[in-house]
Parts: sequence; structure tokens; C-alpha cells
Amino acid sequence: MCGIIGYIGLRKASEVLTEGLKRLEYRGYDSVGIAVVNNRQLEIKKDRGMVDEVSSALQFTTVEGNIGVGHTRWATNGVVCRENAHPHFNEKKTIVAVHNGVVENVSELRGMLEEKEYRFSSDTDSEIIPHLLEENHKTQPLLQAFMETAAQLKGSYAIVALSTEDTGERLLLARKNSPLIIGVGRGEMFCASDIPAMLPYTKTFVPLEEGDVAVLTRHGYKIFSPDGSEVERRQITVDWDAELAQKGGYPHFMLKEIFDQRHFINETIASDISSARQLIDEYEKIDVVACGTSYHAGMLLAYLLSEKGKISQAYIASDYQFIAKPGKKTLAIAISQSGETADVLQALRHAGDSRKIAITNTVGSTITRVSDETVYLNSGPEIGVAATKTFTSQLAIVSKLIYGKQRLEPLSGLIGKMLEKENQIKEIATGLAGKEHAFFIARGMNVPIAYEGSLKFKEITYIHSEAYPGGELKHGTLSLITEGVPVIALAPRDKALPKLFGNIKEVKARGGMVVSVTNDGEVEKESDYSVRIPEGLDPALYPFALVVPLQLLAYHVSVLKGINPDKPRNLAKSVTVE
Ligand code: F6R
Repeated sequence: MCGIIGYIGLRKASEVLTEGLKRLEYRGYDSVGIAVVNNRQLEIKKDRGMVDEVSSALQFTTVEGNIGVGHTRWATNGVVCRENAHPHFNEKKTIVAVHNGVVENVSELRGMLEEKEYRFSSDTDSEIIPHLLEENHKTQPLLQAFMETAAQLKGSYAIVALSTEDTGERLLLARKNSPLIIGVGRGEMFCASDIPAMLPYTKTFVPLEEGDVAVLTRHGYKIFSPDGSEVERRQITVDWDAELAQKGGYPHFMLKEIFDQRHFINETIASDISSARQLIDEYEKIDVVACGTSYHAGMLLAYLLSEKGKISQAYIASDYQFIAKPGKKTLAIAISQSGETADVLQALRHAGDSRKIAITNTVGSTITRVSDETVYLNSGPEIGVAATKTFTSQLAIVSKLIYGKQRLEPLSGLIGKMLEKENQIKEIATGLAGKEHAFFIARGMNVPIAYEGSLKFKEITYIHSEAYPGGELKHGTLSLITEGVPVIALAPRDKALPKLFGNIKEVKARGGMVVSVTNDGEVEKESDYSVRIPEGLDPALYPFALVVPLQLLAYHVSVLKGINPDKPRNLAKSVTVE
């Protein structure tokens, strides 16, 4: 969703904000803006477009001043245009605010303010905030007025605001259902929606909790709970290197992150799963909730738990509240890379009294606070919008929970071997870049990988794609398989292969183009293109061998089509609205 950054200190704020926005752009990238206080005047620069383009056109870093806020937008309310870009401000231009989330009672609040002759210059819900703060500030000090403003908003928000009339030089922060993290420096303070934006300056962070309001000055911070009392929140330290959030010589974050998998997988398999495993042993019924890519890892988990004799099902988190009836006897496992996905958090609320396990990459994220146990992916920051290394890490945690660590030892080497196929995959990508449709098929425990391959493919190539267990093709989709239509078959040698082989032949008989990932000679013969997976591989590791070529395929088709795979249209990482 939107990315927020705030700075107060002695550095040139416009530089810190611009750099932070570049690092936050994966959260949203349709418009961008900064507001900096310079000689008690607000200087605001904003427009539609990506950070690089807007910040150089409007010369963001020429703005002087040491306190300011920045925002990169993913539109929810109001079209993409300059007026709707953040920061938003009051008419006198003395109060400015950036907001991530959705204000649900916007009509009521806007009506009330318009009656008092406040004039709005955008269609966003967020613009309510500076006006409401101005109104509340008429009768009370700024901090109290800010607290009242936050309390009046229904929905979700992470807000950073400031006033040029504030004698104390402060940034005001509030969070509810949208992440906001304080970065603790020496003689300077930061805040942002996500840690990577602040990594060049500090490794010490304080994630705000639901309903918190905070005040940042150059010298420190104070946090208040909704009732106004001051509270302590846990400081966390991360050992992520700022370089990790850079491209490191790769043309895109996505490619870097695909290659990073060789290394991070070892960190993942070292992750402590003991308490989670113990909890799993105690339960017979286990619901897995997740969205998108994480849901595919969840499908594998539910499949493997069922094989172990548990009653387990994976649910799309946004639908869980409508179709599941978890109770005290249910264990809920939530998988979320960001740990902030609104649909997942809602599913966990629906899980009520059930015990909960979180599987996430994000230290201190909301999901960890509402769960009884947390397992960390340890994948390092993932900036590309399309999840790659975090998916592989999720698969590794799922596999470790089921098989234990030893069987996963060959993973780093295996991923390295599959990455060596990049040149061959580039060639296959050339054959696919001009297509309009693609289908992905697999059987049994590899079906979630077909779903994942298809999702990755459609989201960054804009080619329509669908995935099925191979047996489903003949129940309808086969009517779409004509001359040259690509079908990507995940066909490792296992008990399901004879059936999948039949499905591949059905495709060939209709002139379809078969791209297989396999270790079987017969399948290779039937294929137009084939990527080989190692002989004698432990079937528990097939999902890993299969997914890497699919990630590379999606990436290279995307690049061939001139798309930026790091920032696919309409999408954003960390989806904090339901
Ligand atoms: C696709 C992708 C999304 C996310 C989904 C859930 O490449 O990244 O489908 O997997 O939005 O996000 P998390 O895992 O943060 O809950």
C-alpha cells in the first residue's frame, strides 16, 4: 500500500525523504510527494508518477529544512492525479499530513468540515486529516488535537503530521491497522511504513501498536496509548544490511531476490520452529490462512498436514470469515510475508480464541503480535512486488515443520543448480512473450507450485494465465487449447506422473505448446521446451526445483515485454486494505 516516511534531525530532510521514498516505492507508485518545513514555511512538492521521475522533475532535493514528511501512493480513494497525491495540507498551509489506509467515515467528517467552510482540494479521504486537525487545534494544544483527530477516524490509518506553528518542532504519528515504525537515531529520528526505508541511518526500531499515538523530536520519542497515557513499546534491532535493500548490480530487485534464494534459504532452514511444531502436535484440526503467493505455500502446508493425518485446509484469508467456523479446538496458522496484510489480520480476528501461529518475514509486524507463536522466514527484505525469495522461504518453513531440517540441507545447492538454467529459460521466454494466454498444470503436491507459477506469470507479464491440477483441463479448459497455446507442465517423476503425462498428450494432440519442468525422458520428448530438474532428487524438494524456473520465466517474459517486473501495474506490496 502507500509508503510513508518522516524525518526530524540535522540532515537535509528532502534528501532523507527522497532516498526513503525510493526504498518504499514497492508499497505503491502512482504518485509521490514531500513536505519540508523551511524557515517556518511549508514547501510541498508532489505529482503523479514514480519517485525517480517526479523527484527529479520537481527537484525535491533542492528543498532546504530539517523536518519533513514524504509519501508514495497506491490509490484507494480518488484517481491518480497531482491533487490527490500526498502530502495533504490545510488551506493556510500550516498543517501537513501523509496517510496510509482508508478513512471509512470520510463523508460524515467532510460534511461536518464543509459546513464550517473548510475547502478541500482533492478527492481523497486523507485530506480530511489536516483540516480536522486544524479544527481540533482551535480549542486545544496540538498533541491533544492530534489525538482527538485520530480518535475521530474510523477505518485504518498510519499518519504522520506536523504543524509549522508548533513551537516544539515535532512529528506526530498515529497508527491503526496500518504499519508505522519509528527509527531511532542519535540526535535525529525517523519514521516509516517499513524498515528498509530507514536502514541507511539506523538499525534500531520501535514498531507502533494498534491505536498508538507518538511524538518524535530530534532527541527522542514518546508513545501514548489511545487513553492518552504514556506507554513503553519494545525496541527491536535488525541485522539487515542497507545494501540488502539495494539492487547490488542486478537490473531489477526481482532478479536479485531470485538469485538471493541460494543464500537465504540457509538462514530460513536455521529458523527456530520448535514451539510451532509443538503446538501443531497438540491439534488435530488446523486451518491455514493466507493470500496470494503466501496462500500457495499455505496450500502445500495443508496438503502435507493432511497427509500426516491432521484435518487441515488452506483458506484464502479474505474469505475465511464467510466460510469457516474455527473454534477452540482449531489451530490457525497464518502465512504472510509482510505480516501486515489486512485480509490475513481479519482472518485471525475471525479465528477468535483459537491458538495461532504466524509465519512471516517481518520482525515486529502486527501478525506476530496477535499470534501465540511466530516462525520467521529470515529472508531479508524483499523489495520486488512479486514475492519470490519469501515464497521459497515459506516453502522451506512448511517443509521443515513436516520433514525436519535434515532433508532440507541440499536446498541451497539445488536452487543454485536451477538458477544455472537461466539462459535456457531466457530462450523459452522468447517463445512465450508474444502469447496472450498460458496455462500451468501439475498434480498432487506440486499443484500449489503451478498456481504460484501462474500468479507470478500473470502479475508481471500481463499475459492471461490460469493453473489447474492437470486432470481438470478436460473438464472445460481444453476448449481453449489450440495451436501454439502454451501449457507449462510441472512433471517430476512421482506417483502422479502417469496421469499428468496423459494430460500433456491431450494438450499436444490439440497443437498446444508444451513447456515442461521434469526429470523424465518421455515427458521431454513430448515437450516443445523442457527444463531439466536433477535426477534422484528427494520428492520433498520437488516444489523448490520447480518454482525457480517459473520465477525466472515470468521475470524474463516481463523484461522482454518492456515491463518493469519490480513494479507491476495496479499492484503493491503489503496490502493493508481489505
Ligand atoms: C504475489 C504477491 C502477493 C502476496 C499477497 C500476500 O507475488 O506477492 O500475492 O503474496 O499479497 O502478501 P503477504 O504475504 O505479505 O501477506
